[in-house]
Amino acid sequence: MKIAVLPGDGIGTEIVAEAVKVLKVLNLDLTLETALVGGAAFEAHGHPLPDSTLKLAMDADAVLFGAVGDWKYDTLDRPLRPEQAILGLRKNMGLFANFRPAICYKQLTDASSLKPELVSGLDILIIRELTGDIYFGQPRGRRIATDGHFPGSEEAFDTMRYSRPEIERIAHVAFQAAQKRSKRVTSVDKANVLETFQLWKDVVSEVGLQYPDVALDHMYVDNAAMQLVKAPMKFDVVVTGNMFGDILSDAAAMLTGSIGMLPSASLNAKNQGLYEPSHGSAPDIAGKGIANPLATILSAAMMLRFSLDQAEAAARIEAAVDAVLSQGLRTPDIYSAGMTQVSTREMGDAVVKALG
Ligand code: IPM
Ligand code: MG
Repeated sequence: MKIAVLPGDGIGTEIVAEAVKVLKVLNLDLTLETALVGGAAFEAHGHPLPDSTLKLAMDADAVLFGAVGDWKYDTLDRPLRPEQAILGLRKNMGLFANFRPAICYKQLTDASSLKPELVSGLDILIIRELTGDIYFGQPRGRRIATDGHFPGSEEAFDTMRYSRPEIERIAHVAFQAAQKRSKRVTSVDKANVLETFQLWKDVVSEVGLQYPDVALDHMYVDNAAMQLVKAPMKFDVVVTGNMFGDILSDAAAMLTGSIGMLPSASLNAKNQGLYEPSHGSAPDIAGKGIANPLATILSAAMMLRFSLDQAEAAARIEAAVDAVLSQGLRTPDIYSAGMTQVSTREMGDAVVKALG
C-alpha cells in the first residue's frame, strides 16, 4: 500500500512527523513517500501543487496531508497561493465527500467553550461536499479577471453552483453514513434565499425517499449555526455544501474543546482518500513544538480504516489516543489545571508507547 505524505506548511511538518512515527510502529506493509506541497512547494518549485506532487498523490492508495498556508503568501496571485494546492488535490482526485467528525472526548469535556452538560458525549458527523459550490464556480478557469477581481474597479465576483448529480452523490453518502449511526440526517441549506440551495434541498429530499429508515430534516445555515452552539447534541449526521460545511465544521470542531483533536477524510468514488487534520497550518505557533498532533494521528487512523482496509490497526491508534488523554497528557491547546503539559513530539511518543 502506497501512501503519499504531504506535510505542507507551518505546523504541518511537525504534526505529520508524529503521525508517520505512529504508522511506522504498526508494522504494516506501507510504503511512505513524501513530497512538498503548498508554500513549501512554491518556494522550491514555483508552484503550490507541482505536477510531481499531484502525480504522487493520484498514484497513491491514500494521501496523508498536513496543512498549507501562511500569511506571507497573501499577496501572491491567487493560482500561486498555498490554498490552491489542497483545492487542486480535491478537484483532481475527485474527493467530493469530506467527513469531519466532531467528537467530544470525555477527558476533554472541560476544554470546550460550552458548558460540559451541553457537549458531554457529543458525536456529530459533518459531511461536507468538497468539489463544488462557490469554491469551484466562476471565475475559476476564466482568462479575463481570472481571480474574479477586476483591477482598477472596486468589484469582484464568485459564483455558487451545484448540479443534480453532485448533490445526489453526496446525499447518498450522508444517508448511508446515517444508516450506520443513529439514522438521522440534517441537511443544511439556504433555500430561502439561494437557488443553488433550493436545488440542494429538493434533491436531498428526493434521495431521502430511497432511505425510508433514515429521518431527514432541513435547516437553514444561519439557524444551524445557532443550534450548533445552543443544543449541539440534537445533531447527528449533518450534510451540507462546500462553503457552509467549511464554516460549520470549524464551529462544530471547537465545541469539542480543540480543533487540534479532529481528523478528517476526503473520499472519491473509488474510496481513494486524502486524510488531514481539520485545522490549518497555524503559522503563529509553527516551529515551537507545541502543536497538537492528535488530529493528524487520528487522520492516519481514518486512512487505515477507510482507504487501506486496516480497521483493526485504526482501532488500535484510536485506543492509544484515548489512553494518552486518560494519562492526563495535554498539548497547550487542550491543557487544563492538574494535567501534564507535553510537546508535539512527546505527545507522538506517548501514542507510540500506548500502542504497546
Ligand atoms: C478547510 C480549509 C480549506 C477550505 C482552505 C485551506 C482552502 O479551510 O479545509 O476547511 O476552505 O476548504
Ligand atoms: Mg476550513
